[in-house]
Amino acid sequence: MAYLAQYFTKDHFSNLLIQNIDFRGPKVIVDLGIGDGALTVAAIKKWRHAKYYGVDVDKERLDSLNERLPNVRLHNINSLDISLGKSIKIKMGTVDIAICNPPYLNLKKRSKYKTILRNAGLNNSVNIPCYTSDLIFLAQNINLLRDKGTLGIIVPEGIVCGHNFNLLRKDLLERHDLKMVIQLEPKIFNKTEAKTYILILDKGQTRTRTVQLCKADLNGKIEKRIKIQKTDLIERMDYKYHASANKNIKGKTLKELGVTIRRGNYSKNELEKAKQIYFHTTSNWSINGLSLRNTHYKLNKEPVIAKKGDILIGRVGRNCIDKITFVKSGKIAVTDCVYKVSISEEFREAVYNRLKSEEGKIYLQKVIHGVCAQVLSKKDLENFKVFVYKRHVHKK
Ligand SMILES: C[S@@+](CC[C@H](N)C(=O)[O-])C[C@H]1O[C@@H](n2cnc3c(N)ncnc32)[C@H](O)[C@@H]1O
Repeated sequence: MAYLAQYFTKDHFSNLLIQNIDFRGPKVIVDLGIGDGALTVAAIKKWRHAKYYGVDVDKERLDSLNERLPNVRLHNINSLDISLGKSIKIKMGTVDIAICNPPYLNLKKRSKYKTILRNAGLNNSVNIPCYTSDLIFLAQNINLLRDKGTLGIIVPEGIVCGHNFNLLRKDLLERHDLKMVIQLEPKIFNKTEAKTYILILDKGQTRTRTVQLCKADLNGKIEKRIKIQKTDLIERMDYKYHASANKNIKGKTLKELGVTIRRGNYSKNELEKAKQIYFHTTSNWSINGLSLRNTHYKLNKEPVIAKKGDILIGRVGRNCIDKITFVKSGKIAVTDCVYKVSISEEFREAVYNRLKSEEGKIYLQKVIHGVCAQVLSKKDLENFKVFVYKRHVHKK
């Protein structure tokens, strides 16, 4: 059922999540959105004597699970209700371990969700522009846990590196003890390309200053790990970014070089309808640059126009990082799927060459996110680093 986001965890990854929860003799374990029980089954193998609770909105699934796991207390209710504890007969703030692979769906910003976030100590997160079910499930799990109880949860990439979730990361890093972020291989769930991560955190504050960022292989084995200071993780907390070259390059960011980055202010459809010429992701991204006509536009508002010297970069789409070119002559309106990068002549060549270089591509590949459509954010582009030598600086 797509609307319930029923993507079930494979054994390798259930085991990986459970193995990384370090907790002796838990008494109560809860699995919100238990589905086919993958996480609970792995947990039972490790902690046989705990009392298990499972919650799911899909009644049929619980019926079949009931036969397989008769000792798990199953509840057919919505995990996003404020009265969750009462409904499953658990006092909030008493659970030892919460394990969860929540649905990833957009939610309306309801006041009950704000209460759930605040109760979990995620006060900044109340201001996140769009709420998602994974965000509220995360908060509900924290609400269920006792102080120093542990949560192991599989979350989508947005939570780990999306700009919208900066406030959540700040809360998790400052109000709770985030211990590990494990990057999973893409496409490990059937029928979705969601990029996912396992978070392991203990409820409540500590003085620990670092978090382990890891990368797991397709068999659920951790193959690489690094330790990163918590203060460096608010912007993003994915292994691929922190292990990447860009972070250590001593260069200047596009922002520091005074680059102006604008995306088009009309969609392709709007420009097409108005019978205007445009440059879009489907246009010809010639590596030799673009020789254009000097088109004049008849539109209600001034379109974003790329002109001689501007660099163009694809903003969305699977291959957006391969879409980099520059305007040799003439001008053209760009659509909202294209960035126009305007930069003074002295740095132009250095920026273009770096964007097209292998290292440049590695950086762009690492920062683009999005479940299906890959998106290069303006902020990530502004943070792109370029070596500028003295001749770039002094040349007039
Ligand atoms: C991504 S699946 C994960 C299932 C299982 N935990 C696993 O790891 O394989 C999410 C589960 O959450 C359930 N679900 C969706 N919305 C829910 C809600 N509001 N309350 C409780 N369960 C929900 C779905 O029916 C589905 O079984």
